[in-house]
Amino acid sequence: MRAYRFDSFDDLSALRLREEADPRPQRGEVLVRVHAVSLNYRDLAMLLGRYPRKCVPGLIPLSDAAGEIVAVGEGVTAFQAGDRVIGAFHPRWFGGEMPSTIAADSYGAESDGWLCELKALSQEAVVRMPDGLSYEEACALPCAGLTAWTALAGPTPIRAGHTVLVQGSGGVSIFALQLARAVGATVIATTSSAAKADQLKAMGAAATVNYAEDPQWGKAVRALTGGRGVDRVVEVGGPGTIAQSLRAVALGGEIASIGFLSTDNPGIDFFQLKMSGASFRNITVGDRAALLDLCRAVTASGLKPVIDRVFAFEDAHDAFRRLESGAHLGKIVIRIAG
Ligand SMILES: NC(=O)c1ccc[n+]([C@@H]2O[C@H](COP(=O)([O-])OP(=O)(O)OC[C@H]3O[C@@H](n4cnc5c(N)ncnc54)[C@H](OP(=O)(O)O)[C@@H]3O)[C@@H](O)[C@H]2O)c1
Repeated sequence: MRAYRFDSFDDLSALRLREEADPRPQRGEVLVRVHAVSLNYRDLAMLLGRYPRKCVPGLIPLSDAAGEIVAVGEGVTAFQAGDRVIGAFHPRWFGGEMPSTIAADSYGAESDGWLCELKALSQEAVVRMPDGLSYEEACALPCAGLTAWTALAGPTPIRAGHTVLVQGSGGVSIFALQLARAVGATVIATTSSAAKADQLKAMGAAATVNYAEDPQWGKAVRALTGGRGVDRVVEVGGPGTIAQSLRAVALGGEIASIGFLSTDNPGIDFFQLKMSGASFRNITVGDRAALLDLCRAVTASGLKPVIDRVFAFEDAHDAFRRLESGAHLGKIVIRIAG
């Protein structure tokens, strides 16, 4: 099979395609022919030296994939050849408390990921693809889709009457917009682009605020809610956006802390945090049980993941460049087979 590996994280030229032996499924494992993979900011962050965890060179990158099972190992009962599956972002977090293996299992950072033609892994590390999605659409679910789901679904699930703030037009934010709209919530979106603002409104955002033109965008968001604030902030900006998020959030609302896209880190004012009256929840994508819930919600609602562009396997470098450009809206996908 062919597989890409990052020989180092110095620059994109260290991403090399090579011929390797086909993996064989061991007892309890399935062999997946990978059809499509999607990129997340974390895949770029490793390359930019911005990933906050350990990154081991030499591994196959990317955490999110969809494919077809082509063989099963001894003792596999949950799946058979021909089943269409997606990988779970955390291959050994099935529910409940996060396992201590979470960092060591991290695809592309400490274990081999999915930018390859074949992958053998535990039957517990995949779930069935929602019916009605293409491989290109389904491969967007494991990280971006599930993170947005976790941000909105618990512990107080977002429902009709709530207002959700999403930041920018990347993978997590677009899923959050779609999932919030699917339950009848109102969505306010920030973006740095006037053209993207029109697209976000076409996708159901009630209002947009340009965070590049208005550094006090948190105040503007609050004004759009009649001064009450938003019930949930899907916080992907991190250190540079948290102060404005605290201005935008309602008393009793929640900041779902997800990302670290902003490069500045001015620090957090304790009293602003305290007086916001909001809770702060740290999100680490989600567990397998939540991924199954998301798949059911996608099927029930008819949600279609928004794909920015699909690249050929041979053009994987261009997919990374597209992500780095920030010009995308939604998910960047690489088609591998089919
Ligand atoms: N904790 C977790 O479980 C988890 C899971 C998934 C992702 N993440 C993190 O969440 C973040 C988003 O990931 P992603 O894959 O969705 O990213 P992405 O697709 O690369 O999102 C990029 C978009 O975000 C917007 N953006 C960039 N800088 C911004 C800023 N300072 N303020 C507001 N918006 C900004 C821009 O939108 P416009 O062009 O519209 O301005 C940009 O196009 C990343 O930091 C990622 O590592 C964390």
